[in-house]
Amino acid sequence: MIADVSEADHTDLAFEPAAKPVPAEERAKLLADPGFGRVFTDHMAIIEYDERQGWHDARITARHPFTMDPASPVLHYAQEIFEGMKAYRRPDGGAALFRPDANARRFAKSALRLAMPPLPEEMFLDSIRGLVRADREWIPETEDGSLYLRPFMIANGSFLGMRPSTEFIYAVIASSVGAYFKTDAPSVSLWVTREYVRAAPGGTGEAKCGGNYAGSLVAQAEAVRQGCDQVVFLDAIERRWVEELGGMNVFFVFADGSVQTPPLTGTILHGVTRDSLLTLARDMGLVVREEPYAIDQWRADAESGRLTEAFACGTAAVVTPIGRVKGTDGEFTIGGQSIGPTTMRLRSALVDIQRGHAPDPYGWIDRVV
Ligand SMILES: Cc1ncc(COP(=O)(O)O)c(C=O)c1O
Repeated sequence: MIADVSEADHTDLAFEPAAKPVPAEERAKLLADPGFGRVFTDHMAIIEYDERQGWHDARITARHPFTMDPASPVLHYAQEIFEGMKAYRRPDGGAALFRPDANARRFAKSALRLAMPPLPEEMFLDSIRGLVRADREWIPETEDGSLYLRPFMIANGSFLGMRPSTEFIYAVIASSVGAYFKTDAPSVSLWVTREYVRAAPGGTGEAKCGGNYAGSLVAQAEAVRQGCDQVVFLDAIERRWVEELGGMNVFFVFADGSVQTPPLTGTILHGVTRDSLLTLARDMGLVVREEPYAIDQWRADAESGRLTEAFACGTAAVVTPIGRVKGTDGEFTIGGQSIGPTTMRLRSALVDIQRGHAPDPYGWIDRVV
């Protein structure tokens, strides 16, 4: 059966409903405590690309495994990019996305960096909206629940030559999720890696490509061995400036009320959450700086009381206080190792807009259902 789930008429997004969707009672059980990234919905979006047809065959279809040639270039040279975004349940029972246009633009930028054809923004948005409409019942109703959407693009084909592919698959899968951090602790701890860097100038640090994450796993494992929740990376040249976590941006809050985050100089991801918090902080009248911050300064400021709060932020982790920072030269704690007032205020302002508990003066909400 082919129907159309797109409300906009500028797309040819076909809808092939899953023949065997998960029964409602089973879905309800899965949604009671979904964790993060292990409960998947009934459908997926797919759009294919080749040089002759361009982007074609856009469809929402039953979630299914891919079949690919073992010489497919994504399997060898990691020509791959992805995105991460969420759909939230509205107080009236509907559903909305948060700044999906920002993800569409970042996805197109990542594509260019990885020598892939950018997906037109409208196609990206239609595929996401179509999937959320098809799987709207999978959005948890719990307080911190949401539908995490994972758009990605892979190089396909059959060749081992070292060149960009000419065939690509774009797909979106969706996962019902709860809180990202399982811990009941009021803050997370960070391990400052001195051995590994995440990104160097001229590299792929500001693209959201799988390779960046593969390269950070060993450092994350090191963090866990050190008894920490997450790894924090320093810059590749001086090994001095705080860049970001494996999957989150970082903010610092000072006793004078100002807020600081590392600048976008090409090696860190342009976080949508980071950008939204900068806007919210400015509109709250806070002094906001996008300036480099040295790891030794962080320690000195935490110890002197000049720095009172720090937090990590991202779509998955939302806003998470940082309570303890450990490195090869010892460790320091921040504030009372619990959420501070500025972190709390910024977090509430963001979450209230995302979940429809506060007005959206910025036009960030994209109502889907
Ligand atoms: C490396 C990295 N930094 C920062 C972020 C936060 O970005 P966003 O707020 O757009 O989720 C993410 C998550 O996507 C990430 O993977």
